[in-house]
Amino acid sequence: MSEPTTTSNPGRLSLHGMGSLRRTASCAEVDNSKIGQEVVLAGWVQRRRDHGGVIFVDLRDRGSFLQVVFRPDIAESAHEHAQNLRSEYVILVKGKVEPRSEDTVNPNIRAGDIELAVTELRILNSATPPPFAIEEDAGVDESVRMRHRIHDLRRPPLQRALRARHNLFQAARAALSDLDFIEIETPILTKSTPEGARDFLVPSRSHPGDFYALPQSPQIMKQLLMVAGYERYFQLSRCFRDEDLRADRQPEFTQIDLEMSFVGEEEILAVLEQVTKRIFSDVGGIELDANIKRISFVEAMDRYGCDKPDTRIQLELVELTEVFRSSELRAFRMGVDKGGIVKCLPIHDAQGMSRGRIDKLESMVKKELGGKGLAWVRVMDDGEWQSPIAKFLSDQEKEAITKATEARPGSVLLFASDTKARVNAILTRLRTDLGWELGRVEDRPWDVLFVVSFPLFEEAEDGSITYAHQPFVAPVEEDIALLETDPLGVRATHYDLVINGVEIGSGSLRNHRSDVQRKILEILGYSEEESRELFGFLLDGLEIGAPPHGGFAFGLDRMVMMLVGGESLRDVTAFPKTQRGQDLLMGAPSVVALDQLEELGLQLRPQEDE
Ligand code: AMO
Repeated sequence: MSEPTTTSNPGRLSLHGMGSLRRTASCAEVDNSKIGQEVVLAGWVQRRRDHGGVIFVDLRDRGSFLQVVFRPDIAESAHEHAQNLRSEYVILVKGKVEPRSEDTVNPNIRAGDIELAVTELRILNSATPPPFAIEEDAGVDESVRMRHRIHDLRRPPLQRALRARHNLFQAARAALSDLDFIEIETPILTKSTPEGARDFLVPSRSHPGDFYALPQSPQIMKQLLMVAGYERYFQLSRCFRDEDLRADRQPEFTQIDLEMSFVGEEEILAVLEQVTKRIFSDVGGIELDANIKRISFVEAMDRYGCDKPDTRIQLELVELTEVFRSSELRAFRMGVDKGGIVKCLPIHDAQGMSRGRIDKLESMVKKELGGKGLAWVRVMDDGEWQSPIAKFLSDQEKEAITKATEARPGSVLLFASDTKARVNAILTRLRTDLGWELGRVEDRPWDVLFVVSFPLFEEAEDGSITYAHQPFVAPVEEDIALLETDPLGVRATHYDLVINGVEIGSGSLRNHRSDVQRKILEILGYSEEESRELFGFLLDGLEIGAPPHGGFAFGLDRMVMMLVGGESLRDVTAFPKTQRGQDLLMGAPSVVALDQLEELGLQLRPQEDE
């Protein structure tokens, strides 16, 4: 083959076009079976090493690596050009697959016993030096990786994550299509519907002063598709929520969203079970147990203190409120008088848990969880109680505590007394931290459960009634009458899918009767006019022949994170936002030109500190 035409670039380097040379294999396709064959590979220079006249390059393409070697006696020109190669240069190489010499064999990597002996090199592009190593571990702060996201995306963990994400899309589509769901897109420019977070708003140019909202989820639209008779809908939908970000929250994320008509809870849970198993199997090669366990919200809160427990952790909470109702231990008794509760986390065989460790836990409870303290008891070998609270407890109370917690020599009991919400939050955290720390975790990789029978409403901090999940959830049928008399006692048809202690998705049956939906909006404090203004199109829809319906949404990003073992959604999203909602690569959000604002009829108020 003749030397390719070269074009000059601003540096000293000759750049070549691909000419007529084309890749014939990917690195991953080259193995021992190809020894003796000629192949053309393309990719990026991972690393170049010069060894006494012979140049080795690790070539990286989208899936793998292969060592390519330039020897002056085989191809003088290629060898000469190879001296110019630097990390991340883009090259095309033709050569013969050969066994490596014994001293260069690396048994620890794929294809570590072969290499490509290059006969022809084309340097397709140069590259500025990468800001960090394009390797499993970049070894730099995440903000540096976010700013240089393209380099980051070249690293193997992100390559694997985005491939798993693709596989998850395919598995979800296949599973739902097989179950006769059809994929329908709903608008991104839409009207605000409450889902518990703040909306992102988009000003309208043609209707100055009016705004679209980006959807927090396609909730109302999918309900209307049921009214319209589509019966089984799904969508891999982008959702937008302006909320405080955490490792498992992004301001924009993807749901596997679905809705079905003429079904009850059982049929929906059966679909969810099939889809979940298919995803685990197709994406992770994991076969989940035959039936997904179920646990009620009340049981989850009682035993684990939260509605998304990891039930592999073998520590459980015990309620002791009644024991302290008339106790001499004033702090606890007064808390109970004010409507608070007392719960205990018993840890048996905890001889190794030092006093210093308990003190550290107490300080964490105060600093991070807003608790007043952490009362504790250690049961000594002779059965005596070592404890700052023991002297306030009667024998009867001690007996009741011992019985309820099954305390025995070696046990440590940790108590929280506060509002119900705070007690549960404190003990959930202690249960999780200590469960892992002390090795009280069942040895199985997956804990998959449906949490069911949530309440419909909950009491807000100011004492008003708010929805527990969203305003469209249907009450269980027998509890509809309670809407009038005891709203907080009304059970909902809501269910969550929880995997390893993370909420992966949630759903419910919906109010297909407009009278029930109206009543719920009224209990939530919406006036007739507000209900019409915000939800008129839904309420009207419910009056034109709405079938019973319900559905669910899986958080796709969280599922991928779980399946690839990522630590945050940023590990499984191509272009994520930081904890502060910024895209450091593009520099978003950013200021816009004044005339853009003018066109939209908007004017910025000066910032207070300016
Ligand atoms: P929900 O609000 O519970 O329900 O959301 C469903 C699932 O979406 C995921 N999720 C998120 N993932 C990443 N970043 C976020 N900020 C974020 N917020 C939520 C979670 C969650 O379980 N319309 C209802 C579903 C329904 O009832 O059908 C809804 O959106 O995994």
